[in-house]
Amino acid sequence: MCGIIGAVSQRNITKILLNGLLHLEYRGYDSAGLAVVDEHSHINRIRCLGKVQKLVDAANRENLIGVVGLAHTRWATHGIPSEINAHPHISEYIIVVHNGVIENHDQIRKKLISYGYSFSSETDTEVIAHLLNMKQKQYGGSLLQAVLKSIPEISGSFGMVVMDSRKSSTIIAVRIGNPLVIGCGMGENFVASDQLALLSIANSFIHLEEGDIAEISCNKIAIFNVMGDIVNRNKVKLNIHHDHISKGIYKHYMQKEIYEQPIAIKNTLLGRCTNKEIDLSELGINIGMFLKKVKHIQIIACGTSYNSGMVSRYWFESLANIPCDVEIASEFRYRKLQVRKDSLLIALSQSGETADTLAALRLSKKLNYIGSLAICNVLYSSIVRESDLYLITKSGIEIGVASTKTFSTQLTVLLMLVIKLGSLNGMHIEVQRKIIKAIQMLPYRIEQVLTKDKIIEKIASDFFDKNHALFLGRGDHYPIAMEGALKLKEISYIHAEAYAAGELKHGPLALVDNNMPVIVIAPNNQLLKKLKCNIEEVRTRGGLLYIFTDQNVEFRKNDDYNMKIIQLPYVEDVIAPIFYTIPLQLLSYYVALIKSRDIDQPRNLAKSVTVE
Ligand code: F6R
Repeated sequence: MCGIIGAVSQRNITKILLNGLLHLEYRGYDSAGLAVVDEHSHINRIRCLGKVQKLVDAANRENLIGVVGLAHTRWATHGIPSEINAHPHISEYIIVVHNGVIENHDQIRKKLISYGYSFSSETDTEVIAHLLNMKQKQYGGSLLQAVLKSIPEISGSFGMVVMDSRKSSTIIAVRIGNPLVIGCGMGENFVASDQLALLSIANSFIHLEEGDIAEISCNKIAIFNVMGDIVNRNKVKLNIHHDHISKGIYKHYMQKEIYEQPIAIKNTLLGRCTNKEIDLSELGINIGMFLKKVKHIQIIACGTSYNSGMVSRYWFESLANIPCDVEIASEFRYRKLQVRKDSLLIALSQSGETADTLAALRLSKKLNYIGSLAICNVLYSSIVRESDLYLITKSGIEIGVASTKTFSTQLTVLLMLVIKLGSLNGMHIEVQRKIIKAIQMLPYRIEQVLTKDKIIEKIASDFFDKNHALFLGRGDHYPIAMEGALKLKEISYIHAEAYAAGELKHGPLALVDNNMPVIVIAPNNQLLKKLKCNIEEVRTRGGLLYIFTDQNVEFRKNDDYNMKIIQLPYVEDVIAPIFYTIPLQLLSYYVALIKSRDIDQPRNLAKSVTVE
């Protein structure tokens, strides 16, 4: 989604802004822009459709210089991706960049037109620039006053940064619905929608809270609420270094992140999983008592996080004996809910900023849940801060838009929670120990399955000319089939669907012919016999079978032209869903590679989905 960076300094900040935008590219965008103001209050703006590199080239050609400025990557919502619609938007001397959606933009636009304002773009953002301009003219006073007067008239969600070129020593940041973080420097300050944009220039940060308005100048940061009263916010230091965000020896971030899974899982287990028990005391001293009360789990999530919730449902119910429901957050938030007694709401999100999940979490606070728990990869994210409890997945930064290591670490945390709840719910000590032993093997098992990389790369070439694919799984591997299909469609643009294998003959079987790849997730478990029948159903219709299975499982006539068997090392049943995800991630990666797709930034998608 859109990315923002702003800077106020006494040196030329053009390169800093462009560098920040390069670090925001991973969030997904379609156009970019920058406006800087020099010491003579002169505004220099450049915008382009496409990659930030085009903007960098243009800035170099024009030798842009400015001591204060704003830059933006846009992910189109209102108005097509184009140079004219790219931010920043300007109204005389007011400059605006904005993330989010102004819901009443039409109404405000009509009013502004009646006051003589004209519009050069189709965006909702341009109304903010003119509205601020109008408020300043109506009431005089500072830009801060104009912001305070404008906010009550704007509905929707917006993280925005604004400035007045005539007073080029200050920028103003507003957080309503969309996150912003201030990066503190020496004699200069910055603001961005994502701290990754600021890592090379600041090492202490202030995370704005909902409704905060920050007036930022070189030596001073003042934060107000929407009433204009001063509020205090903590400054925090972050321990993230630049090398964490380089590709290293890998071609793509996604490939690197697939390979980082053993270490990401080790870090996630560290301090929480001992040989004997799961220790979640980070949740507070009374956590045992609290979890004992939990009689139902309600999971809310979107996309890949939803798929991990779906896997955990099988675990919560079969291992911990606790009923669990999983719902897509955008559905949950718009229907009449019946809350079960003593239900714990779990919000799953790698980014912690997904608009629908955040809104569903906020809604849950008004309902009768006994509490909320976030499982998230970003410590200072909105979902973490607004949940009663949180468990951080320690994946490290994930840059590829397609979630990989955040999915496997989410599952790792969920499985630890299952054991914890199970232990409070009468799970036999031997069963606990067995699962703990399996979890501890997980990093090693994933290292083993990663050695199949070359085999999977070879198979991927079969998909070069394919437009559709089916994924089949049963039990806790059905959501893994869903995740496999999601990964394939999002980065290779092949249309892929997942089915519970038993559903095949209830419709999707009609799609199967000798041009349809059918990927089957077939671990060596108690459902394998049933799955083998479904495999036969595909085979007799000529479907192209790709079966991911255990090395000890035998299938009839392995050398069939239409059946490829990818034999994988042994894995314990309980962790098999995490393990079987890895070859599917590799398959999508290599298919996207041969199709020359933009793997880390697939078209139309964003890493952090901050609009509903
Ligand atoms: C797909 C993917 C998305 C996200 C979804 C929710 O690879 O990453 O489907 O899972 O947008 O995002 P989070 O987990 O940040 O709430």
